[in-house]
Amino acid sequence: MVLYFSGTGNTFWVAKQLSEATNEAILSIPDELREGTLHYTLKDDERLGICFPTHGWQPPRIVRDFLHRATFENVHYIYAVTTCGDDMGYAMRILRKELGKKGLSLYAAFAVVMPESNVCFSFLHLDTPESEERKIEAARQQVPHICELVKQEATGVEELVKGPIPFTYTYIIGAYYNKHLITDKKFWVDTDACIQCGRCIKRCPVGDIEGLPPRWKHDGSCTNCLACYHYCPTHAIHWGNMQRGQYYFNRRGDQK
Ligand SMILES: Cc1cc2nc3c(=O)[nH]c(=O)nc-3n(C[C@H](O)[C@H](O)[C@H](O)COP(=O)(O)O)c2cc1C
Repeated sequence: MVLYFSGTGNTFWVAKQLSEATNEAILSIPDELREGTLHYTLKDDERLGICFPTHGWQPPRIVRDFLHRATFENVHYIYAVTTCGDDMGYAMRILRKELGKKGLSLYAAFAVVMPESNVCFSFLHLDTPESEERKIEAARQQVPHICELVKQEATGVEELVKGPIPFTYTYIIGAYYNKHLITDKKFWVDTDACIQCGRCIKRCPVGDIEGLPPRWKHDGSCTNCLACYHYCPTHAIHWGNMQRGQYYFNRRGDQK
């Protein structure tokens, strides 16, 4: 079973490959939170995979909430993959701790560097088409290797990209970011540019948008994955006053 969260498609692309390689079901964490029983009994030979984007050098809050609420039975092997634009700090340490609270162990952990989706920091920029291409090409080489290790149920594996100051990233900057800046209150829509296509509503993984032009519910469900911002076909959705471009996986339709 591969459980995943993805805003702009990078993590879904990785999770899908893992699901195909292991021949195990792929389940969306937001869908499970909405509709599932949150009780999972694995088959005897089934592995448990958790795939998520790094958000502020931590696992997104929705992933932590899910793990907090879900119960798992008959688990013999757990692996996790995070996708990140640059580095993931100690995100896996946090995941490991969440699993530990359930008496579960993480046997293998991986980070896959993918195109950047964060537009919320002034010092961050989306990738150029060239660096986007380079990252995806490198990920194309890396993901089959991860699939192989997962199929072999390799243990004690940590192939991570923690960055130069992971403690500061995760527990100081990331802690502040995840506590105070995960909000839908900074989104706004340029109503002249909005064509009321409803794509933002469809793409929001947590159902935080209602009405057209879009209105965010401000009900605490937003994970700041930026799917609404990036998938908008006219770039009518903005986050604060950031002047940034857009990205989502396979935007040009040339990736498989
Ligand atoms: C709110 C937010 C925070 C992010 N924080 C980080 C980060 O701390 N480190 C990093 O390398 N990338 C960060 N990113 C980039 C994403 O982790 C990366 O683009 C990821 O592959 C997106 O996955 P998705 O397309 O499945 O949503 C962040 C992206 C968003 C939207």
